[in-house]
Amino acid sequence: MAAVPHSSEYPVIRPRRLRRTAALRRLVAETRVHPSDLVLPVFVKEGLHEPVEIATMPGVYQHTVDSVRKLAVEAARAGLGGLMPFGVPAVRDAVGSAATDPDGILNRTTRAIREEIGDDLVVIPDLCLDEFTDHGHCGVLRADGSVDNDATLDRYAEMGLALAESGADLLGASGMMDGQVGFVRSALDEAGHTDTGVLAYAAKYASAFYGPFREAVESQLQGDRRTYQQDTANATEALLEIDLDIEQGADIVMVKPALPYLDVVRAAAERSPVPVAAYHISGEYAQLVAAAERGWIDRDAAILESLTSIKRAGAKIIATYTALEAAALLR
Ligand code: PBG
Repeated sequence: MAAVPHSSEYPVIRPRRLRRTAALRRLVAETRVHPSDLVLPVFVKEGLHEPVEIATMPGVYQHTVDSVRKLAVEAARAGLGGLMPFGVPAVRDAVGSAATDPDGILNRTTRAIREEIGDDLVVIPDLCLDEFTDHGHCGVLRADGSVDNDATLDRYAEMGLALAESGADLLGASGMMDGQVGFVRSALDEAGHTDTGVLAYAAKYASAFYGPFREAVESQLQGDRRTYQQDTANATEALLEIDLDIEQGADIVMVKPALPYLDVVRAAAERSPVPVAAYHISGEYAQLVAAAERGWIDRDAAILESLTSIKRAGAKIIATYTALEAAALLR
């Protein structure tokens, strides 16, 4: 049996030494969040005259095209990495016509942001039909109500071209249709948009935490997205999704949601030769804000801990509604 060390010389190794002062802790910090890692999702509603706060996401607004211009300038000044615009159209139909209309809300928003901030921020509009369809699904439906994968790809290609024309840097392909990245990539290339990239929502789970987002975009969804988004139970399947998206030309792969899926973020980071992003989604934001409003947790500390944890798991890029607030805290 090993000799029990004499109490005056034990323990020899004392990890607490490096935690003693803030300066020591800062020196040995393995992970740092920088404002340029952060992407701010923004909602823009057609026909709105004043920004309207989203009830389920206090501090987050449905914007007008004008107010989003100001927000874009603020985001650029804060040194954020980018903006992810989502459109809330005035009119919805079965195929999501407003998504491909060059004068549709998302295309107008993308042009307005680009006009306002030039190349100072990366602009990543959402490439998906759910905000634009009257049934709320991410694709077009067959007569039996199921989502038609391949017919949806044609719509994504059209939408991707319209967004590329409007000045998107990257397209946030979030619909979880099989083959969407390759299909959109080849449509872009054929049209000469070889410099427009694809940020693939590679591993996107069917999550209860999207609830507040559906309110933010006034989604009409009945039912759920379980036939196309991944099952929470599966991590290995995410590796297949990530590999497929990289093979099909994804420039960045994203895992979503973030905190409940940090194992998947870690697996993606170990596997992916392209940058990995994670989306700290609406329900993650809502939980944090609700608890902080009740005084049950410290808002600032909880934001920084959440973002640091997502980076520590391996995400280079974080989409988060806290981006501006976090950037101010990090300054
Ligand atoms: C699909 C899309 C969704 C989110 C981002 N893109 C909704 C969904 O899949 O139901 C959710 C983001 C969030 O909850 O913050 N267009």
